[in-house]
Amino acid sequence: MCGIVGYTGPREAYPVILKGLKRLEYRGYDSAGVALLNSGLKVYKKKGKVADLEESLIGKDVHANIGIGHTRWATHGEPNDRNAHPHLSASGRLSMIHNGIIENYALIKKELLSKGYAFKSDTDTEVLLNFIDEIQQHNDCSLEEAVRVALKRVVGAYCILLIDKEDPHTIIAARKGSPLVIGIGKGEHFLASDATPIIEYTKEVVYVNDYELAIVRPDELILKNLGNEKITPYITKLDMDLAAIEKGGYEHFMLKEIFEQPKTIYDCLRGRLDVANGTITMAGVENYMEQLKNAPRIIIIACGTSWHAGLVAEYVIEDLCRIPVEVEYASEFRYRNPVVNKGDVIIAISQSGETADTLVAIEKAKEQGAIIFGVVNAVGSSIARASHAGAYTHSGPEIGVASTKAFTGQLAVLNMIALKIAKVKGTISDERYHNLLAELEAVPEKVEAILENADAVKAIAEKYKDSSDALFLGRGYNFPVALEGALKLKEISYIHAEGYPAAEMKHGPIALVTETLPVVFVATKDSYHEKVVSNMQEIKARRGKVISIITEGDNISPTLSDDVFVVPPADEVIAPMLSVIPLQLLSYYAGTAKGYNVDMPRNLAKSVTVE
Ligand code: F6R
Repeated sequence: MCGIVGYTGPREAYPVILKGLKRLEYRGYDSAGVALLNSGLKVYKKKGKVADLEESLIGKDVHANIGIGHTRWATHGEPNDRNAHPHLSASGRLSMIHNGIIENYALIKKELLSKGYAFKSDTDTEVLLNFIDEIQQHNDCSLEEAVRVALKRVVGAYCILLIDKEDPHTIIAARKGSPLVIGIGKGEHFLASDATPIIEYTKEVVYVNDYELAIVRPDELILKNLGNEKITPYITKLDMDLAAIEKGGYEHFMLKEIFEQPKTIYDCLRGRLDVANGTITMAGVENYMEQLKNAPRIIIIACGTSWHAGLVAEYVIEDLCRIPVEVEYASEFRYRNPVVNKGDVIIAISQSGETADTLVAIEKAKEQGAIIFGVVNAVGSSIARASHAGAYTHSGPEIGVASTKAFTGQLAVLNMIALKIAKVKGTISDERYHNLLAELEAVPEKVEAILENADAVKAIAEKYKDSSDALFLGRGYNFPVALEGALKLKEISYIHAEGYPAAEMKHGPIALVTETLPVVFVATKDSYHEKVVSNMQEIKARRGKVISIITEGDNISPTLSDDVFVVPPADEVIAPMLSVIPLQLLSYYAGTAKGYNVDMPRNLAKSVTVE
């Protein structure tokens, strides 16, 4: 949540920052701003998107070689010009941007008010900034020192960048709980919430860790801990190219990412799955195989779409490995008093690798001695680094706010993990094991075939786009897919949607069924199919509108459906990787038909770094 960018070096800072903010806009888009340091310190900010800020700055003096910029997802104070970042300190000397939440800001604010400070915004950020300002003025110390002193009192999460009018070359940065990457150029440095604003300038980056403070000058990067001890920066090479973060001719990132899935799933399987030799190579799993196969219980923690992937994995792991699995919302796990027994393995699933709830839940489980296995997309992210072992999904940067390709990547990884454990444990027959390997390998091609028919989903979406509600039903492996279909539809098209196990519908939601209610059945051919068909009949009998996702060759479901979308046949373990694709398309086309910005849906942000 909130995107931050900083630059210091010989280039014009404003265009670098502006471009970076556009790349980070998925993290928040209710206001944006920049602070530029030239002969003076200029702060420009604007409610709305980065493009609104850009427009408001036409003709303004934006010349500077150092600056910081921010795109906001509001936490404290409504989105308006006043609450937008950067903030300017009361002395007018410092400017700061912040991603995160300062939990004890009210107390600090009270102290500052009693010292005569006044505040222009409702934000926790301005409080922290003035706290730093007060320490600097009072102690006549360097900004670095003032930041260090202030952060020792701060409770909460932050990634902050500050510039000081008196020091026209230095950016001071610090993080705890919110991400920060520093790109190392030749005589210049780039700072950002993730690597996407940096990639076109340099591939050498340093991921800053919690409780670290960076002093960044054009030709110098000093990392320290809050105890003022120097830390050697660990330089990583980015494995990402520019094309991966651009739209590449698609109207929206979401559509591009949906259509990328044949490739991203292939990339995820590549080098791991060897059907001819019947092997799956995953170093992270192999190193922890003893713990995984002997785990008395696996607890999966995640949020949102990643949580849905976890639910599918619950079915797969219990079915193939015979290990009990629990799937928990990270936000619940972190605050209740969960029982984590010796030997339990936690699988943490996250696209961004920065979700605050998941990250804290991991720390909590670690304290109780659990082994953490991360299934993460963003390479080098906080969750990846906080895990003992893991497997990347290799889906590439996901920029559209709705998670699409990351979900199928997560399913691919989780299926491979389950198959590997089952093989070692001997809980799967050789025949099933080899069949499932071959089925996995065939997924990219089948997804390709589904995407070739995207127009059929578009027609369905246009037909139902004005519905106020929708139900998504499925059983077994397709129940989590129904949940995912409902989540996608509501976040992208703002149609209220509920996902339910198809059989559970008659315990309540069936009361909603009318002639106008679209009910989407995820009804691919599996061991539950006949039961799902009965549920379809129950809806039809009440004149609901049935839209079903079915398997090629199913002649019964179409007789009960108003609209059908056909997917290629697949084993039920693999089917969710196919049946979810039309649901992603359905939400995309419903959202675009209603004229919504599907890449930046209302109130949302991609990377939820606040709890
Ligand atoms: C939905 C969506 C969110 C995320 C959730 C977890 O389309 O994108 O529900 O899945 O915020 O995010 P990650 O996977 O980054 O931890």
